Amino acid sequence: MAKVTDVDVRSHLALGLDFDDPIVALDRAFALREWFGVAKVGHELYAAAGPSIIAQLRDIGYGVFLDAKLHDIPNTVGSAARVLARYGLAYLNFHTSGGLEMLLAGIEGAREGAAQAGVAVPKLLGVTVLTSDSDTSAFARRLDLASESGCDGVVCSALEVERVKVAHPGLITMVPGIRLAGSDNNDQARVATPFDAIRNGADVLVIVRTVHHAVDPAAAAAQVFDEVASALD
Ligand code: C5P
Repeated sequence: MAKVTDVDVRSHLALGLDFDDPIVALDRAFALREWFGVAKVGHELYAAAGPSIIAQLRDIGYGVFLDAKLHDIPNTVGSAARVLARYGLAYLNFHTSGGLEMLLAGIEGAREGAAQAGVAVPKLLGVTVLTSDSDTSAFARRLDLASESGCDGVVCSALEVERVKVAHPGLITMVPGIRLAGSDNNDQARVATPFDAIRNGADVLVIVRTVHHAVDPAAAAAQVFDEVASALD
């Protein structure tokens, strides 16, 4: 089998930049570039920095995941997705709890926006159940909605990846709630180590506090990277 390259490993790792200051976020993005191929911009950073942060992260070499978790009436989600997709994103997401019509409108909007700007259509992901929620009763229905609407993948915990791959093998799984063994779960209810998540079949791991709250963020990033590399081997 071909050797797993650093680029392969990085493509499985999204660095969440949950900061309220774009300078701090960009600093971190520069410092940890060696270990991550995707940068995740969530509500906090997007609110602080605005859309210009997307091009700045792309210039450093990241694909950008805009964790917008859009959820509104179909027309509004379609319009927002159209605007956001123009910025050139690798991934964009919607709450599947918004329903089929909303997801369809969001996907159509994203495709239109990307075409208008001449950029690639982002991979479109449906958030199933937040990893902070221990009640996963809505998971199966939301997974089916993501598939039925034409989403490229879902956001789910490592504990549900296998169910995704069995029911809808073509869907990408973006997986938050990743912790190194022995570290604090914080507010996350459904967590796994980087190694276990990849071995379960997760495609991209979202890493936030595991790295940023570490005494030595670079060392934590390297440890996450090594676990993913060995799980892929
Ligand atoms: O620090 P931690 O690794 O728990 O961060 C998880 C990140 O993933 C946060 O940025 C959060 O907004 C995001 N997220 C999540 N659960 C989802 C979707 C996104 O925790 N279902």
